Parts: sequence; structure tokens; C-alpha cells
Amino acid sequence: MILIHPIMQVFFIAMAVVAFILGLQRFRSNHLGHQTRFNWKGHVYVGRIAIVGLIAGTVAGVAITPYYFEYTVPVLSHGQLGIVSMAFFFVGASTGYILDKHKKRRKLLPLIHGSANTLGLLVALNQIVTGYKLYLSFVS
Ligand code: HEM
Ligand code: HEM
Repeated sequence: MILIHPIMQVFFIAMAVVAFILGLQRFRSNHLGHQTRFNWKGHVYVGRIAIVGLIAGTVAGVAITPYYFEYTVPVLSHGQLGIVSMAFFFVGASTGYILDKHKKRRKLLPLIHGSANTLGLLVALNQIVTGYKLYLSFVS
């Protein structure tokens, strides 16, 4: 049971990395003047799965934790930062929805969207480190 959350999160973080790599192509053409191909549909598809999956995985983490841990400091720092990453992804998901539903030439909103999701992803990558330590503190 304790592994459900880590396995989900690692899988969906990998999807977020794919979404990031696809989004980077758009960033390069939008802001750096590079000639690139942006896989719009593919980006929206993996990005959506990544964010919905990460939210579900976080809910699973919150639900399962009380069965295994007292609320100690390491649990709190992993848990609290996890909520911070969710806030970034929430901004990323809602801006992504607008960008996809009402397509037009834009600069600022894509930048807010890309920044929020990239920050969320960086925090999520850090969650792997703190989450692994949390897991070790349980098994040892
Ligand atoms: C973890 C997931 C995601 C990451 C890391 C990500 C990242 C990015 C980045 C870096 C850009 C380029 C922004 C720019 O040009 O300044 C972008 C563009 C875009 N993203 Fe995402 N994104 C994610 C999820 C989503 C989702 C869930 C949707 C839709 C529901 C979405 C829709 C779009 C669209 C439509 C654009 C192009 C916007 C435009 O240039 O008008 N993204 N994304
Ligand atoms: C985006 C990535 C992640 C987020 C947002 C996240 C968030 C959370 C949250 C909110 C909790 C509940 C903490 C509490 O109630 O105090 C939790 C628990 C936990 N997390 Fe994560 N986490 C992420 C990734 C990971 C990863 C990659 C691992 C392991 C390598 C991990 C291992 C754990 C463990 C062992 C627990 C406690 C028990 C359990 O639910 O399995 N987490 N996480």
C-alpha cells in the first residue's frame, strides 16, 4: 500500500517531463525566434494525464500517510512542499485549459503557464528525493 503513491508519482512526473520537453519547443518559437515544430495535441494530451495523475497521486499520499507515519518533521516538509507543487500545477492546468480552448497568438499567458508548470515540475523532482528519504525512514 505504501508504494502506491510513490509509483504513481514517479510515473506521472515522467509524463510531466515529456510535456515539458514538448512545451519547450513552443517556448523556443514563441520567445526565442527559433524555427520549431510544436506537437500541440501531444503536449495537451500528456500534460493533462500528468497533472490529473499527479493530483490523484497526491490525494493518495495524503490519504495513506496517517496509516504509516506520525506527523513528524520530514513528513511535513515532503507533504507541505507537495501541496506547493499542486498550487503551481493548478495554475498550469487552468491556464493550459484556456490556451487550448481559445486558441490565439499570445505571449504572456503561455509564459505564465510554462513557468507555473516548470516550477511545479522542479518541486516534483525534489519530491522524489524527500519522498525516497521518507520511504527509507519507514522501512528502516
Ligand atoms: C506538466 C505539464 C505541462 C508542462 C510542463 C507544460 C509546459 C509548457 C511550456 C513550457 C509551454 C511553452 C510556453 C511558452 O511558449 O511560453 C507550453 C505551452 C502550451 N501548453 Fe503546456 N505544459 C503542461 C501542461 C499543459 C496542459 C495540461 C495543457 C492543456 C490542457 C497545456 C496546453 C498548452 C498550450 C495550448 C500551449 C501553447 C500556448 C500558446 O503558445 O498559445 N499544457 N506548455
Ligand atoms: C509530485 C510529486 C509528489 C507529491 C506532490 C507528493 C506529495 C505527498 C503528500 C502531500 C504526502 C502526504 C504527507 C502528509 O500527509 O504529511 C505524501 C506522502 C508520501 N510520499 Fe509523496 N509526493 C510526491 C512524490 C513522492 C515520491 C516520488 C516518493 C517516493 C520516492 C514519495 C514518497 C512518499 C511517502 C513514502 C509518503 C508517505 C506514505 C505514502 O503515502 O506512501 N512521494 N507525498
